[in-house]
Amino acid sequence: MNTLLITGGAGFIGSNFLRLLAVERQVRLIVLDALTYAGNLANIQELIDGQKVIFVHRDIRDAEAVKDVFTRYRVDKVVHFAAESHVDRSILGPRAFVETNVNGTLNLLLAAREQWQGNDEGNRFLHVSTDEVYGALSAEDPPFSETTPYAPNSPYSASKAASDHLVRAWYHTYGFPAVITNCSNNYGPWQFPEKLIPLMILNAVEGKQLPVYGDGLQIRDWLHVQDHCEALRIVLERGIDGETYCIGGNNEQPNIRIVETVCDLVDERLVRPQGSARRLIRHVEDRPGHDRRYAIDASKLKAEIGWSPRFDFRTALAEVVDWYLSHDNWVDAIRSGAYLDFYERQYAHRIKGAS
Ligand code: NAD
Ligand code: DAU
Repeated sequence: MNTLLITGGAGFIGSNFLRLLAVERQVRLIVLDALTYAGNLANIQELIDGQKVIFVHRDIRDAEAVKDVFTRYRVDKVVHFAAESHVDRSILGPRAFVETNVNGTLNLLLAAREQWQGNDEGNRFLHVSTDEVYGALSAEDPPFSETTPYAPNSPYSASKAASDHLVRAWYHTYGFPAVITNCSNNYGPWQFPEKLIPLMILNAVEGKQLPVYGDGLQIRDWLHVQDHCEALRIVLERGIDGETYCIGGNNEQPNIRIVETVCDLVDERLVRPQGSARRLIRHVEDRPGHDRRYAIDASKLKAEIGWSPRFDFRTALAEVVDWYLSHDNWVDAIRSGAYLDFYERQYAHRIKGAS
């Protein structure tokens, strides 16, 4: 039986990935997660209770602890999600991003190489990264692809770019069995409500202001998290060592349109007059260094591995709104004191100067 180590499995994408893999019998799933503010055992509690996964509470910044997990569980493959993932937090406090995203990845690479000792049969390190490493596109540019030069603009994307470079170097220098994926913006259930879509859903439901950065015309390429996870599962099985795969939704939308759609879906569900939630939209001070546009050309993945996204955005977004409306306990539990402190720090001055 293969043993898979899933780092960051208690977060948004990691927990969705675990639900996808938990139906497979021939695999032992070990979750390594530090349970930061973004990690939540409730996301995978049913999998732990059902003995589908083994949870190990460790921090990837701790090299000895990481080594110990590799020897204790005889890990065959790694899917590396664990990261500090929110751009706004990286602007407020960049150090944690370098410590976890760069040093933490280094610790995993060192431990995996030591454990696998050049015997790479059946071993693989799948490094889950982001399209933000490629920087920003103008309206006329073609989408990012695997050959786009790196040009990260935020402390978050710079730390992810650094970790991608380490993984790449391990392959080239040591022949280490690694693949890298660079994915666009995900949406779906279990996403921490600091990110655009869940933040807007919950604020709209509660009648709070909806803080749109700048003119709201920045573009992101939205992909359902289950489409992302399916792509990762296929790359884990059939990707080629040393290769990079871009993953995207072929679904570019300006932020303001996303927010308006969320508003309309919330109004419909709460049987409010159309436009009630849209009246809460406020254009606030922009994110510093805000990337104007991201878009992904995922044709390599389609041509070589046969993956393309399945979910229809509008239908799936409606289901996500329903999910947040029906998970009050989950929402209340994570929006703790620490979350409220961050919200105040991030938004109080912006909302004051809003238009
Ligand atoms: P998330 O913030 O929801 O989850 C991150 C998880 O990592 C949490 O469970 C957290 O506890 C854990 N973690 C953080 N620091 C850790 C540490 N030092 N040691 C151990 N665990 C730690 O993030 P997400 O949105 O699920 O993103 C997962 C990965 O996918 C990240 O690497 C991110 O860069 C990448 N990614 C995300 C998106 C997106 O749209 N969310 C898109 C492309 C790529
Ligand atoms: O592109 C992939 C990346 O997508 C991932 O690597 C990151 O981990 C993930 O957080 C996400 O980054 P973004 O910065 O694009 O996501 P976020 O949800 O923070 O913001 C989406 C867009 O919405 C962005 O242009 C900023 C804007 N925004 C965001 C928030 C939280 C607002 O206008 N108002 C807000 O309050």
